[in-house]
Amino acid sequence: MSNASQSVPKIKILFVCLGNICRSPTAEAVFRKLVETEGLSDYFEIDSAGTAGYHIGDMADSRSIRHAQKRGYDLTPHRARRIEAEDLDYYDYIITMDEDNYSNVAALCTTQWKKLKRFMDFAPETGYDEIPDPYSRGPEAFELTLDLCEKAAKGLLDFLKEKHLSNLPREQKA
Ligand code: 4NP
Repeated sequence: MSNASQSVPKIKILFVCLGNICRSPTAEAVFRKLVETEGLSDYFEIDSAGTAGYHIGDMADSRSIRHAQKRGYDLTPHRARRIEAEDLDYYDYIITMDEDNYSNVAALCTTQWKKLKRFMDFAPETGYDEIPDPYSRGPEAFELTLDLCEKAAKGLLDFLKEKHLSNLPREQKA
């Protein structure tokens, strides 16, 4: 085997919010870029979904696209989908944005509760325990979503590196 990453199963992460057009696509793009920056893309599969079906097939919210673009994240490939029962088996971690998302996903779980995590638990220094829904708010709410996603993505990646990737070659641990 020429590449060490080929022998490691991918860590599968699903970010979940309500509509899958604002927060979870932002979390997905921020986490994906961080993983790319650290040269760890081969170790991850990353996706997002919503607990509601209002926007199935839609692009990310234009405000989310615009604010993310200013920080170098591309949300344009995203299409919204609803979380399905199979996702709970397939993904290793299901990361929710707020308490409603958490309880809605928990209600779908049969045996998979341990996979369910709150995104903001990975950034306790922010003082936020959830990402407020920006959908009916102004531009500052979209900036806050990005700020919180960037902080929590770092904490999540540190947690996953420690738990799953601690035997990586030194140059990939940075
Ligand atoms: P998201 O935001 O859960 O962060 O994608 C929302 C998007 C749409 C709606 C609510 C929240 N909606 O009511 O349509």
